Amino acid sequence: MNVGGTPTLPGPDLAGPDLADPDLVEPDLVEEVHSVAYWFDAVADHLRRGLAAVSDREGGDAATEGTDRLLTVLANYALGELTALEGAGGLVELAGDRRAKTFLATQTLDEARHLEVFTRRMRSLGVDDPDAEMERRAHPALQAFRERLLGLVHDGDWESAVFAQNVVLESMERAVFDAHRLDADLRTRVVLDGVIADERRHLGFGENQLGRRLAAGDERLARRLSELRAELDPLVMGAVEGVAAEIGLAPDRVARLRDDYEAAVHRLGLS
Ligand SMILES: [Fe+2]
Ligand SMILES: [Fe+2]
Repeated sequence: MNVGGTPTLPGPDLAGPDLADPDLVEPDLVEEVHSVAYWFDAVADHLRRGLAAVSDREGGDAATEGTDRLLTVLANYALGELTALEGAGGLVELAGDRRAKTFLATQTLDEARHLEVFTRRMRSLGVDDPDAEMERRAHPALQAFRERLLGLVHDGDWESAVFAQNVVLESMERAVFDAHRLDADLRTRVVLDGVIADERRHLGFGENQLGRRLAAGDERLARRLSELRAELDPLVMGAVEGVAAEIGLAPDRVARLRDDYEAAVHRLGLS
């Protein structure tokens, strides 16, 4: 532990087992991985590190040439997290069983924490009203994605909402955070590393929920999700390319980002 001092990077093992391959996931493991006890062990360390790394204004960074761009990036991240917080919270009610409800309750708190670390990071860079900056700086494609996802939750469409949130949004976030962490300042990187570990768990849940049915040959579900994917792809790519431009990623790395995002959808067997 190193709460008060120089932030250190969390270890890669904190994310826990990957639930990406439904064939490899035994029911007992699902029970364990979806439990509150498991969640607490997984996040206890980087929860403290992440928040400590971005204490309000303590040792805040001086404004630099890149600050405005970083703020735009953080505002987009924060709006993505707010969307996931509202989405996961709404999905608790829609989930059909106790394990899924429990997992989504832990995810809701994860997303609340992610939102908090990103808004705290914004404050440490001199922002007084992070909510106003989120609204002002968020990419229109991300705002459109947010509306569509929350609409699916509101309509009670469990499969589509889980796909949009726990596969599409999580894959997008993970790919962008992974790319950004390589160039980020240390404090931003500590925040991103903790968040990435959580997003891996969230993505695993989505793949596990839907992958089993798709692997069993549920054609109607595959068609529905493929159609939704075609609708969401331009929004995802618009948001990813907008944020990548602010981070200053080279074109080849933006292309790799797209590949990372698409790999998650392909793992489900969707076209
Ligand atoms: Fe998140
Ligand atoms: Fe997430």
